[in-house]
Formats: sequence, structure tokens, C-alpha cells
Amino acid sequence: MPSFIEVLLYLGEWIRNSPVPELSLWIGDQPLSLWMGANFLAIPILQSLHILAIAAAFVSALMINLRILGIGGEGQSLGRTVTRYLPWTWAALGMLTITGLGLVIAEPVREMMNPMFWIKLALVVGLIVLGIVFQIAARRNEGSWATADGGALPMRAGAAAIIVLWCGIIFAGRWIAYAPV
Ligand code: HEM
Repeated sequence: MPSFIEVLLYLGEWIRNSPVPELSLWIGDQPLSLWMGANFLAIPILQSLHILAIAAAFVSALMINLRILGIGGEGQSLGRTVTRYLPWTWAALGMLTITGLGLVIAEPVREMMNPMFWIKLALVVGLIVLGIVFQIAARRNEGSWATADGGALPMRAGAAAIIVLWCGIIFAGRWIAYAPV
């Protein structure tokens, strides 16, 4: 069984032999990337906005999923909790995508040659797919959720999986700076 570091090194090798190096160098030659590289405030401002959006997205997602798990928020029905917090989650995810893309354009080689960056993006795609499935379920079960005191077992499993996925993305985001490239 390969270790996590061995998996990262293997992915790094795979990235080096893919069209990604060329694409990242091309992005780095574009006027916007050159401008952000020349203005030292651009990256710290984007990273700070990225961290603020992480806080808004993760906390609003936690409020919903802990309510499904029956841990906190009992004063409000499940339906009411979803209506109140889900728009925040989607808006903050939008902000994460915009600031995240900005960080990629600012430092394309640092990000795109990093296996941890791609692992994180795969987890983000998984989270968005799970989020859409959840939203469809919320619409379909609006009536029963209006009075529900928490989710049925499959929903609780889904809620726990979403919380773990969020934590995984946050770890992966921070480890981009430390992963072997
Ligand atoms: C669920 C959504 C996301 C979460 C929870 C998340 C979380 C994080 C975290 C915790 C960091 C480290 C921040 C720091 O220590 O300064 C980070 C950095 C970063 N994120 Fe995200 N992120 C998300 C979405 C995205 C998306 C969609 C992109 C790209 C399109 C992206 C691109 C980046 C980049 C490029 C960095 C900087 C890494 C570095 O150079 O050290 N993120 N993110």
C-alpha cells in the first residue's frame, strides 16, 4: 500500500508529463497574471477573501448539517434552517471559486503543478455534486422537512459525509503550501 507522500509524488510526476506545465506557463505570461505578480497586495487580498469565504461557506453548511444530525438548532425546523443558510453556502462557494481562480491566475505554476491542488478541486467538485443532490432532495421533501426534527438515517449519513468532505477540502487547501511538487 503506497504512503500518502508516495501518492503525491506519483501524481506530481503525472502532472509533469501532462499538458499542465505548458498551460500554467501560458497563464503566467498573460497580462492579468503579470499584473498580479507585480502588485504585492493582490495575492494576500485574494487569500484573505478566500479565507473569509471559507468561514461563511463552512459555518452555513455546518448549521444545516448539524441540524440534520439533530445536534443544535432545535428551535427551528429543518426546512427553515435550509432556507435560512443554504443561500449563504452557495454564495460563499461562488466567492471561493472566484478568489480561488484569482489565486491560480496569480501563481499558476505554484498551484497547477501541485498534486494537492488537484486533489482539493476533485473534492470541491464532489461537494458541489452532493450539494445539488441535497438541494433537489430538500425541494422534493419540503413538506415533511417543514416539521422534521432532523433527518432520516440516509440523510444523517449524507450530512456527516458533507462535514467530512468540507474538512478534507480545508486540509487540502492548507496543505497546498506544503505538498511535495
Ligand atoms: C469548498 C471550497 C474551498 C475551500 C473550503 C477552500 C479552502 C482553502 C484553504 C483552507 C486554503 C489555505 C488558505 C491559506 O492558508 O492561506 C486555500 C487556499 C487556496 N485555494 Fe481554496 N478552497 C475552496 C475552493 C477553492 C477553489 C474552487 C479554488 C480554485 C478554483 C481554490 C484555490 C485555492 C488556491 C489557489 C489556494 C492557495 C494555495 C496556496 O498557494 O497556498 N480554492 N483554500
